[in-house]
Amino acid sequence: MLTPEEIKKNAGLYAADLVKQGMSFGLGTGSTVYWLIQELGKRVAEGLEIRAIPTSLQTVQLAREAGIPLADLNDIDSFPLAIDGADEIDPNGQLIKGGGGALLQEKIVAAAADKLVIIADESKLVSKLGAFPLPVEVIPFGYRQVTRRILDSGLCREVKLREKNGQPFITDHHHYILDCKFEAIEHPLFINAAFENITGVVETGLFLGMASQAIVGYADGRVEVIQFI
Ligand code: A5P
Repeated sequence: MLTPEEIKKNAGLYAADLVKQGMSFGLGTGSTVYWLIQELGKRVAEGLEIRAIPTSLQTVQLAREAGIPLADLNDIDSFPLAIDGADEIDPNGQLIKGGGGALLQEKIVAAAADKLVIIADESKLVSKLGAFPLPVEVIPFGYRQVTRRILDSGLCREVKLREKNGQPFITDHHHYILDCKFEAIEHPLFINAAFENITGVVETGLFLGMASQAIVGYADGRVEVIQFI
């Protein structure tokens, strides 16, 4: 049986084959994408010409270290592919993302790509979203009011300001994250719209109707491609 890191590595390596010569593509964030970056770095050193549109400062740093050229989203009209991780994947390809705090830029890049491919280990597959607390990115100003609005609307049962080293966690775009706990998210479209209706909310970690496929690694060494769209 493979270790969790080996499973993620298998998914990352499999996805590297999707990135073709001359391609600009969205490059996600997280510990599974880490392996994709390492593999693409090797291929760039061997002559593969690509440009990555990064989804976080962490990915900018890892891509630079690996020698992968970067592109600014504003300089690209269109691009065929974004590859990213996820915290939960339901059978319809609906996702929770943002465990690493990069959901806003990840969502902007995913929305701009023709196709979003998710790479993950089997633990991310769920029958229903919501066991993983939903990350919601908010403006720091008045965030306690936003927290109250969320709780008063009965949208979820608990809201926790994400912290790092005893201080509020600050996103790449200088916002806070509220981790919102549910029993389960029965109606993701409704929940997403309800959160986005609250003034002060910037974006949620619900990625709905965005993923085309998931490349999933298993402990027995298999890699499965699940098609959604
Ligand atoms: C980053 O904010 C997240 O959306 C990640 O893409 C997600 O948490 C998956 O990360 P791992 O591959 O590290 O589990």
